[in-house]
Amino acid sequence: MADTHRIRFEPVDIEMDVTEDDKILDAAFRQGIHLMHGCREGQCSACKSYVLDGDLQMERYSTFACNDAEVAEGYVLLCRAHAFSDCTIELLNFDEDELLGGIPIQTVGARVEAIDPVTRDIVSLRLRTERPFEFRPGQYADITIPGTDEHRSFSMATTQSTPDEIEFLIKKYPGGRFSALLDGELVVGDELSLTGPYGSSTLKDGHVLPVICVAGGAGMAPILSILRHLRETGSTRPVRFYYGARTAADLFYLDAIEELGADLTGFEFIACLSESAQGSDGLRAEEGNVTDIVERREPELHRSEVYLCGPPPMVDAALTLLEASNVPKDQVFYDKFTSPATTDGA
Ligand SMILES: Cc1cc2nc3c(=O)[nH]c(=O)nc-3n(C[C@H](O)[C@H](O)[C@H](O)COP(=O)(O)OP(=O)(O)OC[C@H]3O[C@@H](n4cnc5c(N)ncnc54)[C@H](O)[C@@H]3O)c2cc1C
Ligand code: FES
Repeated sequence: MADTHRIRFEPVDIEMDVTEDDKILDAAFRQGIHLMHGCREGQCSACKSYVLDGDLQMERYSTFACNDAEVAEGYVLLCRAHAFSDCTIELLNFDEDELLGGIPIQTVGARVEAIDPVTRDIVSLRLRTERPFEFRPGQYADITIPGTDEHRSFSMATTQSTPDEIEFLIKKYPGGRFSALLDGELVVGDELSLTGPYGSSTLKDGHVLPVICVAGGAGMAPILSILRHLRETGSTRPVRFYYGARTAADLFYLDAIEELGADLTGFEFIACLSESAQGSDGLRAEEGNVTDIVERREPELHRSEVYLCGPPPMVDAALTLLEASNVPKDQVFYDKFTSPATTDGA
């Protein structure tokens, strides 16, 4: 049996045990300790922490998430790290409410209720779970790839108002282990398994700052969950939603967004079309890159909470803008839709 070591997290003064074959983030989840995380695959850097003392080694990770100089200095990605001695780890980011009060991880069976294309490459997948699946707006679940023990992560577009009817929005990649199944292989009635909820990019209760959402492609999903929750809770926080797509033909759910927006305070939806704004009559659409449009239209970014979801290059560009605009890190929440297939390795 693998040796067990004691991990101490600073500055929160929490301790736990971990075996050498377990990753620290996973062991923490199982013990009800919800550390800051994003992809859980060594790609996004959300779990980056600092080793004050002890011997840790990482599995395959992306050097974009933690570069060689950082590793040499003592930084570590907890989603990839194994402990080989007792360790003391300094958490660089943590959410005090989530740390010991996060929703416990559940695994539930689900049946496919509907699979509907919403654009040329995005599909709506509706599942009915065998029992209510608890999550917060903005979180995601792991769906097991049928017949394997691998999974892919997808963000819920729905909210707790339908806890056993969940919608996911999924971009199809040619040859994608999971997404290509949506081209006819996965059908209504098929069984899937969901594990979660995961993700720190959730809407926080009690916060009052205006909300700015920036999404691209299937990143619409967690933003819809957030907008729906804001409406269901009667929030009065002003909300603006910047959605990046290539052309007007790539926009979808415009009626649903308009209907949601009618019940939100000061709501604006801005379609940011990178290739051409042609065909977007009747919409508030601007031609250009979503980050440039946000920069142009939002001089007060530092007085907002910002939610970013979608392709990693879009999220990275937006994070650079937010840093340059002096938006405090605890006002920024993001999910990069990375894939295990695109890890550059280390
Ligand atoms: C926290 C989180 C939340 C996510 N939420 C969603 C969501 O709500 N909707 C959604 O559609 N996806 C989401 N993803 C991405 C999703 O988990 C899968 O990685 C993605 O669907 C590809 O899986 P696949 O099995 O179809 O393709 P894979 O078999 O993993 O990859 C096949 C090929 O597709 C291409 N590919 C895959 N991903 C990318 C990418 N990001 N950029 C460029 N090329 C790529 C590559 O060429 C790759 O070789 C999320 C990811 C994370 C980490
Ligand atoms: S959660 Fe560890 S790198 Fe993304």
